[in-house]
Amino acid sequence: MNSNDKKRSFEQTNDNTASNKIPKTNPKGYRIPKLVRDANGMFKSPQIPIHEVHLARKALRQHGISEFLNLYLPENATGSDLLSVVFLLGRAKLEVGFDIDDSENLDKIIKILKSTINRVLSSRDKLQDINTIEDTVRLIREAKNIIVLTGAGISTSLGIPDFRSDKGLYAQLQELGISDPTDVFDLEIFQDDPQIFYNIAHMVLPPGDVYTPLHSFIKKLSEEGKLLRNYTQNIDLVESNAGIPDDKVIRCHGSFATATCQSCDFQVDGHELYPAIREKSIPLCPHCKDEREKDDDALFPASFGVLKPDIVFFHESLPKRFDTSIVEDVKKCDLLIAIGTSLQVAPVSKIVVQVPASVPQILINRDPILDCEFDVNLLGLCDDVAVLLSEKLGWTLNHEKFNSIKDKGFTVREDLEEPGLYVIKPKSNAAEEKSDLVEQVKQE
Ligand code: OAD
Repeated sequence: MNSNDKKRSFEQTNDNTASNKIPKTNPKGYRIPKLVRDANGMFKSPQIPIHEVHLARKALRQHGISEFLNLYLPENATGSDLLSVVFLLGRAKLEVGFDIDDSENLDKIIKILKSTINRVLSSRDKLQDINTIEDTVRLIREAKNIIVLTGAGISTSLGIPDFRSDKGLYAQLQELGISDPTDVFDLEIFQDDPQIFYNIAHMVLPPGDVYTPLHSFIKKLSEEGKLLRNYTQNIDLVESNAGIPDDKVIRCHGSFATATCQSCDFQVDGHELYPAIREKSIPLCPHCKDEREKDDDALFPASFGVLKPDIVFFHESLPKRFDTSIVEDVKKCDLLIAIGTSLQVAPVSKIVVQVPASVPQILINRDPILDCEFDVNLLGLCDDVAVLLSEKLGWTLNHEKFNSIKDKGFTVREDLEEPGLYVIKPKSNAAEEKSDLVEQVKQE
């Protein structure tokens, strides 16, 4: 496949004058659902089964770009057809602020398709011989240098919202009228108007001295000498509550532990900000406060003397410790477990491709991640999955909920079309307790 072939195949799709009679199907006969925009005008992945996504990604890798597009696109492909393939290749959400069926915009969609194709071709391929929960347990038993990559989903059982779920923080902020909720964590916007962040900062304040069974599981990995590092995107400091040693935790997006003056860099203990944050007011630096308050004519920038928690905003660099650790850690890592994250934010999302492709990767998450290929996907609430794995490893977690979760038992449903995909739920009633769902599904 050379670049001319690639160009040709894209050009071929450019002619959308003829009527689009060919059904939008891939070689397996799967029909891509109609694309719809959500309330904010974003295109959301149209619920494509994960095995269809993985089939398409595999076809792209095996056949190359030109052949893949010939197989998956109708002859006179429209903008919708191209965008459908973008979603079929695993993109979760897309902000497209133009009419996708206007032929004038076809070039823009081709660009999106090209970048999606490049992402697939540079992503890791699933290891064929690692598929089961038993494989996962064996890998954890044998591993000595596990990277645990965590996100907001590991703290939701404490009542802390994640970001991108239907009831997550971003949805809540949109309900409050903030059209682009990531703005509240944008450094440039903070510098223009810190009140925007302080209006909502109370919603992301760390909880008291609590932690989850999943946090206890990470601590257990550390006690067993298996945890190389926990790269967390969370700013809630719950890892410390659980007793995971500080040297094992990289807080990639910073935390509320400290706060820094935007003018003189004076650093304070993050707790000092909590009363102001709860009142939605702007905390000020003790050294710059007087000068700011003297400035009646508002000649200073809006963020003069404002304390900002040391959480990493968009347009801000990650802590130095992230950069120094990740280079060495990916070389040592013998197992990667991603938990409670949608892996939508770089550079943390790139860790899965920085680790050598031969190192096994496991996902523990409520929802699948379509644009990554994990060897085993354990889909369910992470506290449940942590207890299930601990039980199989012969471990007891030091958490008050461990026994009650364990005693309830689990139903484990294996997806028969997608190797390595399991849905894990607590048993909820007597009927379920009697039936082994894996068997049930096999018989269907
Ligand atoms: P997201 O909200 O993007 O993803 C959370 C993931 O956790 C989703 O895939 C959920 O399905 C899953 N989840 C939720 N509850 C769960 C549970 N109890 N058990 C298992 N899975 C569960 O959050 P992050 O990936 O952490 O950055 O987001 C990354 C970054 O985006 C954040 O650090 C934040 C945000 O912008 C900054 O603020 C800089």
